[in-house]
Amino acid sequence: MEFKVRACRFNPETDEKPYYKEYTAEDYPGMTVLNALIKIKSELDGTLSFRRSCRSAICGSCAMKINGITKLACKTQVSHEIDKFGIINVEPLANMPVIRDLVVDQESFFDKIKEIKPYLLGQREDEAHNRFHALKEGEKISQPVYYKSEFQNLTGNEDTPNCILCECCYSECGGVVGNKNYLGPAALAKLYRYSEDPRDNDKNGSRLVGGSKPDGIWDCVHCQSCEEFCPKGISPVKAIVKLHEKSVKNSITFSAGSKHVVSIARSIGETGRLDEVKVAFESGGITGLINDLPMAFGAGLKGKIPPLRHKLIKDMEDIRLAYKELDLEDKL
Ligand code: FES
Repeated sequence: MEFKVRACRFNPETDEKPYYKEYTAEDYPGMTVLNALIKIKSELDGTLSFRRSCRSAICGSCAMKINGITKLACKTQVSHEIDKFGIINVEPLANMPVIRDLVVDQESFFDKIKEIKPYLLGQREDEAHNRFHALKEGEKISQPVYYKSEFQNLTGNEDTPNCILCECCYSECGGVVGNKNYLGPAALAKLYRYSEDPRDNDKNGSRLVGGSKPDGIWDCVHCQSCEEFCPKGISPVKAIVKLHEKSVKNSITFSAGSKHVVSIARSIGETGRLDEVKVAFESGGITGLINDLPMAFGAGLKGKIPPLRHKLIKDMEDIRLAYKELDLEDKL
């Protein structure tokens, strides 16, 4: 059966803006979008540019927008797309500049990965750790018993070690759309992956401190797109939430985002109510308070003025029990 592929074309050296070119190809059972593009390139138009390598959803090279959704072309069946959309539209990933056609410049993405120190830091020296490891020609071998107990944080729901750096999450990330400096889901999932690795010995928590700076873990907008569009079933957003918990637990609370969370917990813990003025001040200081003035003024005009003193709620005992359960008693 014949079908149409509409490919976004752009050569920054000769074209003023991107345009679309249509090709007709012949389908066969099991044909993937990547197979279709390879066929078009070899039989119809050798100038069409795209990345690919493994053709098995392992290397992450062939990520692109297919009918508006970021996917791996080698994992996407032509028949499914045609059944749903009647055509195959292919476009480059978003949030990165286009080098040519479907090929994007990945430099900013990989610079951010490098920023989180994606390697094991130092060597653990404690006895408990070494008891479960045999030193073999300089290599540390993890024993099954050790693997099960301590690697479970890595292989839990987030599955962060399975990341293939395809950039699907980065292309769909709402945080990167709003802030080009934001580290993004892949880098932060990797940060979590290394911070949970029992072989890592980041004594000063430098990786977590780095990730807590502006443009890091607290700049996630929780749009959940990273989880929705990951072709490997990883949940970077869950890893980021765990990094929030981890940084607060380790008292790495110098950023506005973490101060905000701590202040909300304290406010609820003290009175059972959210003291918005106090939270605004504790999160952003005088500058934050001044920045919030126009919003406060607008709310005041509509009669929404928060009380300056909050009374205790009558079920404060329930809050105390909940805080005890959540191990947040120091906020009371
Ligand atoms: S070609 Fe390697 S993931 Fe698609």
